[in-house]
Amino acid sequence: MEMAISITDLSYTYHDGTPALKGVSLDISRGESIGVIGPNGAGKTTLLLHLNGILMSENGKVKILGKETRKENLKGIRRDVGLVFQDPDDQLFMPTVFDDVAFGPINMGCAQEEVRERVAQALEWVGMEGCEQRSPQHLSIGEKRRIAIATILSMSPQILVIDEPTANLDPRAKWELTVLLRGLSMTRIVASHDLEMVAALCERTIVLDNGKIVADDATPIIMSNTVLLQRHGLAPASGIIEPRDRGPLLNR
Ligand SMILES: Nc1ncnc2c1ncn2[C@@H]1O[C@H](COP(=O)(O)OP(=O)(O)OP(=O)(O)O)[C@@H](O)[C@H]1O
Ligand SMILES: [Mg+2]
Repeated sequence: MEMAISITDLSYTYHDGTPALKGVSLDISRGESIGVIGPNGAGKTTLLLHLNGILMSENGKVKILGKETRKENLKGIRRDVGLVFQDPDDQLFMPTVFDDVAFGPINMGCAQEEVRERVAQALEWVGMEGCEQRSPQHLSIGEKRRIAIATILSMSPQILVIDEPTANLDPRAKWELTVLLRGLSMTRIVASHDLEMVAALCERTIVLDNGKIVADDATPIIMSNTVLLQRHGLAPASGIIEPRDRGPLLNR
């Protein structure tokens, strides 16, 4: 069967010489829900940015639904892959929430009525109905993140890629989003430090560290491997000094 995503030996170095990915190979089947976890600077965002050709590397190959991420394929690939950025300010640029969420459907050529329906549905999914006329710039960070997710859901992409979806979300919004994402049938790739959300959402988890995949297995197997999680900065190391053991800091 054709893979949703097929990455072969992908390496990427930023212009300043920072190596961010070092020989990543990964196959993701259609309909899979995959967690990408790893410490700060591991390369998660860099990997995700390759999935719709925002970044393209000479070193290695990225195929989306059988099409290589090359300039001539990008239009189709960007319709197939919906990417929610780590920073919602990178996603929101229109004067109103409605315009931002409607932007994708309008671009896809949807008729006015369908655009309205898609916007209403996406805003309901993220619990932001009634905010159509507000300015995205004046929303709280958590609200912005929900709208950023809505701008992608309104396009119903075949592959949904989300970078840190639960950052800045309150517990209720986080669980509502997890339930929503779990109910979707498209291929989903989620980069996160939020192991609780990944455990609830993803059947398979990849651990990335220092630009390399260091583990790729069923989520329960990864999550129960405390040594692995500790080694890659995803669980508190044993023997860590608790702040209270250092004595009162404020009264000194
Ligand atoms: N625009 C850039 N220019 C130079 N180096 C960069 C750039 N963006 C990221 N890097 C570097 O590339 C490496 C991987 O960064 P990346 O943002 O992919 O990590 P991450 O796993 O998403 O981290 P986080 O958990 O903090 O989001 C890091 O060493 C980072 O400093
Ligand atoms: Mg990141």
